[in-house]
Amino acid sequence: MSQSAPSSSAPLLGKTIALGVSGSIAAYKAADVISELRKSGADVQVVMTESATKFISALTLGTLSRNPVMSSFWNEEGWQPGHIELADKIDLFLVAPATAQQIGNYANGLAPDLLGAIYLATQAPIMLAPAMNGKMYEHEAVRKNLDILKGRGVEIIDPVVGELACGYKGMGKLAPLAVITERVFSFFS
Ligand SMILES: Cc1cc2nc3c(=O)[nH]c(=O)nc-3n(C[C@H](O)[C@H](O)[C@H](O)COP(=O)(O)O)c2cc1C
Repeated sequence: MSQSAPSSSAPLLGKTIALGVSGSIAAYKAADVISELRKSGADVQVVMTESATKFISALTLGTLSRNPVMSSFWNEEGWQPGHIELADKIDLFLVAPATAQQIGNYANGLAPDLLGAIYLATQAPIMLAPAMNGKMYEHEAVRKNLDILKGRGVEIIDPVVGELACGYKGMGKLAPLAVITERVFSFFS
């Protein structure tokens, strides 16, 4: 059976997106983000933190992205570190969900994991979709880190108000899938 030609249903064709997934309860929602981006034509390269692997498996995200998942510095193959190769080739670095820890790492130039290293090494535009407890999100330290990142041109996909997994209601819920994907589509259009 012949395959359909690239069309407007594949607006991300030819784009390589590194999708960072960090250790939020919302990490399972990355599965849908990956599916939508891949169905829209993107080559999605998933990079997970160790914490993220406690919330959703690399097997699931690798299957949905149709690419191997990176989650550690220490099992990369080839002469050039895989995360640097990835940082060099991507068109967009999207982290969804982004934890308070990731936001702090990027704001402060720390690279204790693959995501921090890619943040520092890439020249690609960066989008972060934070998700966390509302009090964490409103904390002065997190606000300051987000302001630092915005000042560097990082796009923040704001979380929304809702019922949070921690039992509270408030700001900090990962932005809906449609909002995240729309921001990516708008960026490339
Ligand atoms: C059940 C559970 C849910 C969590 N959800 C969040 C969250 O939504 N946002 C967040 O910033 N941290 C959350 N954390 C804490 C992070 O997992 C923790 O800060 C971790 O060090 C983040 O690591 P990473 O940024 O390397 O993935 C959660 C922890 C647990 C145990």
